[in-house]
Amino acid sequence: MSKQNQGISAHGGQLVNRVATPEQKQEFVSKAEYLPRVQLDARAVSDLEMIAIGGFSPLTGFMNQADYDRVVTEMRLADGTVWSIPITLSVTEEIAAQLEEGSYVRLDDPSGRYIGVLKLSEKYHYDKKREAINVYGTDEEKHPGVKVVYNQGSVNLAGDVWLLQRDPHPQFPKYQIDPAESRKMFLEKGWKTVVGFQTRNPIHRAHEYIQKCALETVDGLFLHPLVGATKSDDIPADVRMRCYEILLEGYYPANRVILAINPAAMRYAGPREAIFHALVRKNYGCTHFIVGRDHAGVGDYYGTYDAQHIFDKFSPEELGIVPMKFEHAFFCTRTKQMATSKTSPSTPEERIHLSGTKVREMLRRGDSPPAEFSRPEVAAELVRAMQVAINA
Ligand code: ADX
Repeated sequence: MSKQNQGISAHGGQLVNRVATPEQKQEFVSKAEYLPRVQLDARAVSDLEMIAIGGFSPLTGFMNQADYDRVVTEMRLADGTVWSIPITLSVTEEIAAQLEEGSYVRLDDPSGRYIGVLKLSEKYHYDKKREAINVYGTDEEKHPGVKVVYNQGSVNLAGDVWLLQRDPHPQFPKYQIDPAESRKMFLEKGWKTVVGFQTRNPIHRAHEYIQKCALETVDGLFLHPLVGATKSDDIPADVRMRCYEILLEGYYPANRVILAINPAAMRYAGPREAIFHALVRKNYGCTHFIVGRDHAGVGDYYGTYDAQHIFDKFSPEELGIVPMKFEHAFFCTRTKQMATSKTSPSTPEERIHLSGTKVREMLRRGDSPPAEFSRPEVAAELVRAMQVAINA
């Protein structure tokens, strides 16, 4: 196949596939009883999955110390490839002490199911505080990403992985579209340019506005809500997916949009996570990626547009995906439409926008977010889901 027919290159050049072949699986399963075990948490399970399906190309396993150190300090892998978030498997000293470098390790999911294998190439200690400050911009434990780092084991296990089997997603099988498949779908649709959209919140009108502004200039929109681990007060993925289904039905042209899940866990690392999110969508075949206000932010740890400025640190060639940057969007009561300060003459009092926290408060009271913020069909679904959760 010519390069042109394959769409854009995966990050690092080759789309990684670490799903075990039936022969490999048989061999690993036959050894199951003899291999030392490590139990993965939800984030490590989704990292394993993302590595295996190529979402984290060029990574073929959990990072070794050379890659880890350079990612933390310079946002690059040891060979210079841009990479902004450590992908590590951390265990306690006690567990690490039982594992020998060079050996195979059985990886179990939180329920004890054997789901993968690690060829342990290296064990190393790391500095949690340095990771927190460099990656998350803070060493405060109340930051949800930092908290995960502080609570995890103090030894990282590195090495190539195999996912034993690719199972249908238990909640969203219909939307489980792996990078190899999304790339194929884009080609089949004849889309030369595709913009990816990351989200962990229920869709609101500012999301819709920036997606549609982007879609005006590219061929297709790849809606890619994150359904891996999020912090406990974020709206659950099943509710968010229903909101997307409801909205797509009435407000988007079916032939221009693909909805798919992103199985990765949320880090809340703001600017660094924006780079990471873009590279992951490049692996799914997107040529463009939306970065709006405070992308992947939490609290007030990051400046509103820091996640846009960080793209300037890298050349377009080494990123290989084009960021589409949007200012803070709101409903303008003067012009009666969605806008940003680039396109509206409104005063701050004439702008309707709500924070996620405000919306959650309204929903808990049983109030519906206003039509200027949320499409009524989506608002109704959010109110319904919140009442079900409260009464459960
Ligand atoms: S995120 O953690 O996944 O970034 P969210 O789902 O809220 O959170 O945002 C998805 C994308 O929409 C991000 O690129 C974010 O910057 C952008 N975004 C969210 N709200 C707005 C807004 N009001 N104006 C402009 N961009 C926004």
